[in-house]
Amino acid sequence: MRVACLGGGPAGLYFAISMKLRDPAHEVAVFERNRPDDTFGWGVVFSDQTVENLMANDPVSGKIVQDEFAHWDDIDVHIHGQTIRSSGHGFIGIGRKRLLTILQERARELGVELHFEHEASPDLDDWRDYDLVIAADGANSRIRTRYEEHFGVDIQTRRNKFFWFGTHQVFDAFTFAFEKTKAGWVWAHAYRFDDDFSTFIVEMEPETWEGLGLDRMDQPEAIVFCEELFAKYLGGHSLMSNAAHLKGPDAWLNFRRIICDNWSYRNLILLGDAAHTAHFSIGSGTKLALEDAIKLAEVLNRPGLLREQALEEYQAERNLEVLKLQNSARNSTEWFETLGRYLHFEPIQFAYSLLTRSQRVSHENLRLRDKAWLEGVERWFQSRAVGAPVDDPAPPMFAPYRLREMELTNRVVVSPMAMYSAQDGTPNDFHLVHYGTRAQGGAGLVYTEMTCISPTGRITPGCPGMYTPQHRDAWKRIVDFVHAHGDAKFCLQLGHSGPKGSTKVGWEGYDVPLASGNWPVMAASDIPWSSGNQSPIPMTRADMTIVRNQFVAAVEMAREAGFDMIELHAAHGYLLSSFITPLTNKRTDEYGGSLENRLRFPLEVFRAMRAAWPNEKPMSVRISANDWMGDLGITPDDAVEIARAFWEEGVDLVDVSAGQTWADCKPVYGRMFQTPFADQIRNEARVSTMAVGNIYETDHVNSILAAGRADLVALARPHLIDPMWTLRAAAGHDYRGIRVPPPYLGGQAQLTRNLQREQEAALTA
Ligand SMILES: Cc1cc2nc3c(=O)[nH]c(=O)nc-3n(C[C@H](O)[C@H](O)[C@H](O)COP(=O)(O)OP(=O)(O)OC[C@H]3O[C@@H](n4cnc5c(N)ncnc54)[C@H](O)[C@@H]3O)c2cc1C
Ligand SMILES: Cc1cc2nc3c(=O)[nH]c(=O)nc-3n(C[C@H](O)[C@H](O)[C@H](O)COP(=O)(O)O)c2cc1C
Repeated sequence: MRVACLGGGPAGLYFAISMKLRDPAHEVAVFERNRPDDTFGWGVVFSDQTVENLMANDPVSGKIVQDEFAHWDDIDVHIHGQTIRSSGHGFIGIGRKRLLTILQERARELGVELHFEHEASPDLDDWRDYDLVIAADGANSRIRTRYEEHFGVDIQTRRNKFFWFGTHQVFDAFTFAFEKTKAGWVWAHAYRFDDDFSTFIVEMEPETWEGLGLDRMDQPEAIVFCEELFAKYLGGHSLMSNAAHLKGPDAWLNFRRIICDNWSYRNLILLGDAAHTAHFSIGSGTKLALEDAIKLAEVLNRPGLLREQALEEYQAERNLEVLKLQNSARNSTEWFETLGRYLHFEPIQFAYSLLTRSQRVSHENLRLRDKAWLEGVERWFQSRAVGAPVDDPAPPMFAPYRLREMELTNRVVVSPMAMYSAQDGTPNDFHLVHYGTRAQGGAGLVYTEMTCISPTGRITPGCPGMYTPQHRDAWKRIVDFVHAHGDAKFCLQLGHSGPKGSTKVGWEGYDVPLASGNWPVMAASDIPWSSGNQSPIPMTRADMTIVRNQFVAAVEMAREAGFDMIELHAAHGYLLSSFITPLTNKRTDEYGGSLENRLRFPLEVFRAMRAAWPNEKPMSVRISANDWMGDLGITPDDAVEIARAFWEEGVDLVDVSAGQTWADCKPVYGRMFQTPFADQIRNEARVSTMAVGNIYETDHVNSILAAGRADLVALARPHLIDPMWTLRAAAGHDYRGIRVPPPYLGGQAQLTRNLQREQEAALTA
């Protein structure tokens, strides 16, 4: 096969090597516009895993790379005059120039033709003598741009400015240094890559860059500015630029995130940065380029595979890995872009948040890396929770939390879940057993399902209510049981179904109207939930007063029933949510239009409920923090304003859910997928939040809490199937501070022993 590689960066060279290794008969030529030792950039970092992959593919170059790598384990975070050092992170670094020299020599040795100072034509016709043309010409690939429409290219230019410097200061740890200036924060990512060189990337928000006048400075001036700002880390060494060809402020770059739907067109194949990029803060661009190269060479040489099939396999196999990395890279990029959220954290929590920013590293990963450090974090978290120093570390999920006078023994919450099992709104023995069991399962707080304030405010005929004395008494029986048999506190979620009412019970079809006996529904405007649902009647002011008073009456009954807490359900497209989202609120009066107007009725309801609820008892509000409809609906930025508005009315906790407000919305699901909204609201509005949504492992819960992304964590589906979820988590951590119902102590002890044995076996395996 005759192959032309356009671009002699890591991707092009390593692909050429990998082809020749598999079949020396291939004729492979690399065309690079620069001279062999001209290169931008300083050092690159890899993980140990990448080096293993290189060794497996080509032990000869792999060994040289392995021998020359600078290896280090520690990460230092310098913030607010403190240095937080953690260990066990296992990085390796090498100079980009050195890496390319090793690859060039190896390619030559294997018979690859290397053409330097050769500007490759972006026209495929000029490569008609080759069977395959590899676009390995980097993020700004000319040939990809030339055939853009065939690749489905999506390029996002990120907002922060960065400059990739080198320095002779040798850092003994991967270093993140944050410095405050008159125009905002500026930070450096620095790491050693050989005996006397380090990479030193300086990054900041564009507003800071302009505020400091860096947008008007030439390179030497900008370098002096950075050297002075980071003098205490540079030990007298200077910063060096190798972007001399870029004029003035142009040396400051913005990262460009590239995704392509298709990685090949005719005989042209995209490789490395030309196909996809990963932000420098997760140090994976070169890894992607090298691993792409290995996979492409492998599929092209797999016996019996036609070229089209090989290319399909190349993309299918690499795409998953690339998506995972780009996902982590996006989290990491966003963390640095929204740094302002985390600057009020104490240094130890700031460092934890930084280390877990990509969501690839979790609480338990950190324990494996540096147990002593993680236990320090756990002690710190517990001591802040109890307001006094503590000696013993314990996972953050087992830290107490206080809302007004209500003391929770831990941070795990049973999320509200409709059971559709009431008759005429009255909870029964099913509810007693259901809530009673979950209240004994160890969670600090148990929510009821949405409990409705009127018969027509129910979602389904099976929904419970709080609108008759009979309901109150039936709930009181359950509340009394919960209080008599454990430490859990009990929160009543109150809501009105609005446009999503008069439907079948969940397992007969979600949001499907009743076969008969439907009742009229109301909402902010006459927009039906879907074409199959009723058109709601827009509420009049008189309707609003009735509904508000029904909420207050329900609160009074909740007080008589002895609930510890109340939540107002203002999410998921139900009545109050239909006012908040612009997708379903088309009113032209003072209850429609601006967010302030759309919040007017929900806030009026909340205010009236708060006035009727004892001052010492807390209240939460559940909101949909994202309609998943872009700017047409509620965005997470709007959610920050919504949370602030409820906070000013005295809400104690914002329960941050998302979606279910528009039938055709496009949620982006995934592990902990709504937690970023709880994080944004908590740390921008500075209010207490509860995270929920696809959180199912103790590791998730501990990571969220320790990183300050939420104050409480709710789990719904995991509690459907395992009411004892928190007791099981306590057993897994050998945590003895949790109350176990006395009759169940033997089971808890056995589970603790068995899980410990499992963990020991896994460690020795
Ligand atoms: C600030 C910063 C820090 C980074 N840090 C890391 C890190 O720590 N670890 C890591 O793994 N990655 C890092 N990267 C990313 C890494 O540099 C790239 O992901 C990696 O180099 C991609 O390899 P590539 O071969 O696809 O592209 P490139 O390395 O960009 O190589 C493309 C080559 O093609 C040549 N070329 C372009 N056009 C033509 C043409 N028309 N004709 C001939 N030749 C052409 C270029 O001169 C270049 O040599 C970082 C990137 C930046 C910007
Ligand atoms: C069966 C079921 C019923 C639910 N009912 C309610 C409800 O009554 N009120 C509410 O606010 N959310 C309700 N939810 C949403 C959950 O509280 C939670 O936000 C969602 O399931 C995501 O959490 P999870 O991934 O832990 O399940 C319900 C979820 C399920 C699975």
